[in-house]
Amino acid sequence: MTVVGPFGLSVRDQALEADVQAGLAAVEEGLLDATKSEVPFITQAAQHLVRAGGKRFRPLLVMLAAQFGDPYAPGVVPSAVVVELTHLATLYHDDVMDEADVRRGVESANSRWGNSVAVLTGDFLFARASHILADLGPEAVRIQAEAFERLVTGQILETAGPRDGRDPVEHYLDVIAGKTGSLIAVSGRFGAMMSGADESVVDIMTQFGERLGVAFQLADDVLDIASDTVESGKTPGTDLREGIPTLPVLRLRERVRRLGLPDDLELVELLESDLSDDARHAEALARLRAHPALEQARRDAVRYAEEARTALAPLPDRDAKNALLELCDAVVHRAG
Ligand code: IPE
Ligand code: IPE
Ligand code: MG
Ligand code: MG
Repeated sequence: MTVVGPFGLSVRDQALEADVQAGLAAVEEGLLDATKSEVPFITQAAQHLVRAGGKRFRPLLVMLAAQFGDPYAPGVVPSAVVVELTHLATLYHDDVMDEADVRRGVESANSRWGNSVAVLTGDFLFARASHILADLGPEAVRIQAEAFERLVTGQILETAGPRDGRDPVEHYLDVIAGKTGSLIAVSGRFGAMMSGADESVVDIMTQFGERLGVAFQLADDVLDIASDTVESGKTPGTDLREGIPTLPVLRLRERVRRLGLPDDLELVELLESDLSDDARHAEALARLRAHPALEQARRDAVRYAEEARTALAPLPDRDAKNALLELCDAVVHRAG
């Protein structure tokens, strides 16, 4: 039994381990290649977050899904590079939107070079992803375009908030399915599709990725509150400071409506106040960390991960399936 990939999945099959390691190594090379520009400053800005690390969760999913066809098929690695580049581009843009200073344990691009450079570097990365996609054919281009539309719609809906009368939890679940589920679904889909797996497997991996992506984002939202910078490579409480109500806060609000406890109500008021004040922000974070609503949000994440597991049921039994099942646990129990 060996441990493979960024999530420390235990793998019995040596061939699977070798395939995944080789695939991820090729993706690293592809990422460095795709982020080179004739202009040295663009290369520096584009490679800033590539070199800072990251979990490479989406490429890992591509590699595991490709195990249900020919993992050496020529489109597998480029499609993994495409999803990671797309993800990377959204991180440059997201940090502008969220005014985040730290990403992958280093200074965010916006903090280092300003918003304009961060936005344009994100655009540069999208351009490079499109370039690679063109060689993967029109179907791949369409799939990516649709996912990207969903992703951007999710980001916009998060910014806009729920329309009048809309249930905030339902709105939030729509937002995260769009902004995160869409691209993780494409990762599973591309892995299966590029490897030439059966159409039924392509559908299963798409469904699986979508559900796992929602679980992944729910876990990220819990980590925004529960983890520290060393673990997450990001500044804790960014969502709170930006006034983005993620599930822990939405669960807290529900509890206030249901039970009306004065302590809870006070915390909601604190969360709704101006949290650009460091002391108030620290207090809100500490109180939320100890609050049962955080535990409830953790359970919600586990529930979505369970739904992802269910999607895998029809797949043939093999080590890659076990690794995907393990990934469901790893995603919701990760520390960063
Ligand atoms: C961060 O994604 C943005 C979310 C969708 C939660 P990751 O947690 O995959 O970030 P990296 O790639 O490991 O930095
Ligand atoms: C992640 O949004 C979604 C995208 C980047 C598209 P978040 O704002 O929740 O992610 P983090 O916490 O900054 O990584
Ligand atoms: Mg963010
Ligand atoms: Mg955001």
